[in-house]
Amino acid sequence: MTATAAPAPPAMIDEAAAYVRARLGSRAPEVAIVLGSGLGQFAERLAHAVRIPYTDIPHFPAPTVMGHSGELVAGTLAGHETLVQSGRFHMYEGHTASLCALPVRVFARLGVRTLVLTNAAGGIRRSFGSGTVMLIADQINLTFRNGLFGRVLPGEERFPDMSDPYDPALRGIAREVARRRKIPLAEGVYVGLLGPSYETPAEIRMLERLGADAVGMSTVLEVTAARAAGIRCLGFSAITNPAAGVTPHKLDHLEVMDVAYRIAGELAELIEGVVAAL
Ligand code: HPA
Repeated sequence: MTATAAPAPPAMIDEAAAYVRARLGSRAPEVAIVLGSGLGQFAERLAHAVRIPYTDIPHFPAPTVMGHSGELVAGTLAGHETLVQSGRFHMYEGHTASLCALPVRVFARLGVRTLVLTNAAGGIRRSFGSGTVMLIADQINLTFRNGLFGRVLPGEERFPDMSDPYDPALRGIAREVARRRKIPLAEGVYVGLLGPSYETPAEIRMLERLGADAVGMSTVLEVTAARAAGIRCLGFSAITNPAAGVTPHKLDHLEVMDVAYRIAGELAELIEGVVAAL
């Protein structure tokens, strides 16, 4: 290996996990939560929080996207030791699929068994207005990448089963929390694309025919890595806009973040309710 070559993924995971473990001390997180664009305020809900900036964690780059801070926050949520990833890595920032999956693999090393993912997404299903919260029932990975390329790591499957990418029991709990708290909750299929450009109307029509209800630029690689490590997943999309061509409005990241901020409270209540029921 030359001096400038990136270390192989196993070493990256070991080094990042060792650093985070040392900072966590006696805390052993069972649950990790990944926050999407504009949803960063959720971390305020953790009690006894310890904040670990990405700049301190080996191999974690600083996020480059507005609306994504760059820190892991460890603390207690509804009585459960929880780790919040505030700021995720996307391929459109120039990262490899393997780097996008790095935090999830670190969580697996730390003993996390349940992963909750959130994202901002465009609504493909015609009935989805801005502000809809969609429970992710299933996903389509149209990044044509996979963070598991390469050597099989200890504790991971070579060919992970993807029959239940989003855990049926956790989805049942989420529906029940939504019903009890009177939070409207849609359910549908999320498609993950590379980005960073939003889609064309023709692409949205294609995605609709493929069976997708919401479109975004994240999540699918993280869920695949989590399933390889036996972590069960739950996902929510904050529908921040009707997808391109569904309405004549142009898409804009500031508007996406603005709507995400507005939905953040409802989404946080749902997630906290699910964690409380674990
Ligand atoms: N497309 C892709 N990603 C998104 C969108 C969208 O319409 N809205 C928020 N993230």
